[in-house]
Amino acid sequence: MKFDTPATTNPIDALRVVGQPVSRIEGPLKTTGTAPYAYERHDIAPDAAYGHVIGSAIAKGRIAAIDTSAAARAPGVRAIVTARTAGPLGKASRNTAKLLAGPEIAHYHQAVALVVADTFEQAQAAARLVRIDYVAEAGAFDLAAARDGAVTPEDEPDSTIGDFPGAFAAAPVQLDATYTTPDQAHAMMEPHASIAVWRGDMLTLWTSNQMIAWGAGDLAKTLGIPRDKVRLVSPYIGGGFGGKLFIRADAVLAALGAKAAGQPVKVALTRPLMFNNTPHRPATIQRIRIGAERDGTITAIGHESWSGDLPDGKPETAVQQTRLLYAGANRLTALRLATLDLPEGNAMRAPGEASGLMALEIAMDEMAEKLGLDPVEFRIRNDTQEDPETPGRRFSQRPFVQCLRTGAERFGWAKRAARPAQVRDGVWLIGLGMASAFRNNLLTKSAARVRLDAKGVVTVETDMTDIGTGSYTIIAQTAAEMMGVPLDKVGVRLGDSDFPVSAGSGGQWGGNNSTAGVYAACTKLRAAVARKLGFNSTDLVFADGAVRSGDRSVPLAAAAGADGLVAEDRIEYGDLAEKYQQSTFGGHFVEAAVHAHTGEIRVRRMLAVCAAGRILNPKSARSQVIGAMTMGVGAALMEHLAVDTGRGFFVNHDLAGYEVPVHADIPHQEVVFLDETDPMSSPMKAKGVGELGICGVAAAVANAVYNATGVRVRDYPVTLDKLL
Ligand code: MOS
Repeated sequence: MKFDTPATTNPIDALRVVGQPVSRIEGPLKTTGTAPYAYERHDIAPDAAYGHVIGSAIAKGRIAAIDTSAAARAPGVRAIVTARTAGPLGKASRNTAKLLAGPEIAHYHQAVALVVADTFEQAQAAARLVRIDYVAEAGAFDLAAARDGAVTPEDEPDSTIGDFPGAFAAAPVQLDATYTTPDQAHAMMEPHASIAVWRGDMLTLWTSNQMIAWGAGDLAKTLGIPRDKVRLVSPYIGGGFGGKLFIRADAVLAALGAKAAGQPVKVALTRPLMFNNTPHRPATIQRIRIGAERDGTITAIGHESWSGDLPDGKPETAVQQTRLLYAGANRLTALRLATLDLPEGNAMRAPGEASGLMALEIAMDEMAEKLGLDPVEFRIRNDTQEDPETPGRRFSQRPFVQCLRTGAERFGWAKRAARPAQVRDGVWLIGLGMASAFRNNLLTKSAARVRLDAKGVVTVETDMTDIGTGSYTIIAQTAAEMMGVPLDKVGVRLGDSDFPVSAGSGGQWGGNNSTAGVYAACTKLRAAVARKLGFNSTDLVFADGAVRSGDRSVPLAAAAGADGLVAEDRIEYGDLAEKYQQSTFGGHFVEAAVHAHTGEIRVRRMLAVCAAGRILNPKSARSQVIGAMTMGVGAALMEHLAVDTGRGFFVNHDLAGYEVPVHADIPHQEVVFLDETDPMSSPMKAKGVGELGICGVAAAVANAVYNATGVRVRDYPVTLDKLL
């Protein structure tokens, strides 16, 4: 199904099942511990051996010698895989660094060997007997030091509109400030884990991966085997946040280990390995310049961001939102990329915008104060209904101002003291802060297969994944709505490369696109039902488990017949996404309390107002947003991969040293969704919300801390030492 004209009224609009706050249909499996995660699939490989990954002890250099003889003699050891034994491996297109290193080492804890043994303990013990001599080289590990050598990435040219330097210099009110964000880790609950099983030349990998088709393709390429000889299965995922967009060392080494051992092998990355072996959100240095008239009209806006990555890596695209969020005739946005020898940087929840808004939205707060304007009012004054870089190109919808006004009213923003450090509650200084939320809405093709069986049960199959987001549920809701059956007559099977290729879970595009793919397949199935019954397809009604046309009504079970009916289709997009800018908007509001003597910071209240198209399930969408808000508090106050700039690794490589907040840290969180449907986004009229929820949160917290204390912190995380 090609979607290239705005959606009109369609079966989803009935909203009998879609739009309802249905609890997650796989929830009971998860809360009872019976959802089988990759590492727990004892049933499919009861004879699996255990693989233990050895990470490089140096950050840069080479392996001079590797001696596995003692380890090979250790009890229970079945095989040892190194780059030498594995032979040449292909390079997966989506990984910057090799997933099995040697002899060259590109970063600390890059995998250099896998020890396979009968038990986990034997594998771990034998791994200690592998002797590796390294020749270490000097590397670049400090972004601030590497900043001057940073270059413009080839595919990320500067964007300039009008005369930024001239307009900035002429502006009566100016801000020129630099902000820093640290390296951050995904820190998802479930580690990267895989079980590999070879049957002849056919590899099946049970794993934990957000993007099945990407993963299967990259695994085949890495191993140098045909794509159709790889099956990837990932039905349950204990969090990803972008860290599982691509295959990692566990996948490749489980496959190589199973081949070498001649039996299934399971590999989980240990927690200490995850922080340096897998990607992270790269640190940034961001310089923001804003020039405005005295009435608050922005005349010049400039945003430059520096980040680092391994050779051939990518920048953190922290200036993305600044190209679209506020009006202003003269603009400059630029990315600079430094070469660093730290572990690979890559996507983490709302890559680009999450980091960029951490800086931009403090800058907007500072600018509002210089102008003597309320921060909400300042933002509203600089709203734009068209893409500020492409005159005449409109947003599909942009109820940004409504988000801010609704939020201000619901949060009691009018009570905020404009001057900081004015409000006390006993020993606590109280402040309110806000920030804009912005994240693009991406359209990407997505396929599904639906079956109708003789019992009237509808089964959906698609390689879409559910990373804890609720994909199972909104897909079931979509199929139920389309076929006119109750939810308990729908089965959903996800995360298998044998199924049609979906959008996958990334970039908050999964919800809208994967359900639109199910919509397309169901549309075809409805037509197949009509054809079989000889029904006129223009007056079909699918409801109450039956299909009606004119005065005839046939139960779906009967319509399916003994053989059932099956249909497969995918949603594809025309140029609507080019014609209209598609983005999601919101406002974040935070009340913070800062201890007057110790500087301890507590978030007391948070509110998010989101405009993200039709909300397919208000319960799962709300869970996405409050989870993202909590993650934003982590970015504001806690999360910080500490770099050892001498040896080149992240020091705090476990969940004791890398702190994240939990819901109990935030007593009150509220989410409001604006009643919005976007006919440009898909037949579902939905957009992404899972990443919008984090965008801007950290700045809202930092602004609240400023309002409480009068201390402006521009270096994240905002920790108490920076307040005293
Ligand atoms: Mo997201 S960072 O694209 O999983």
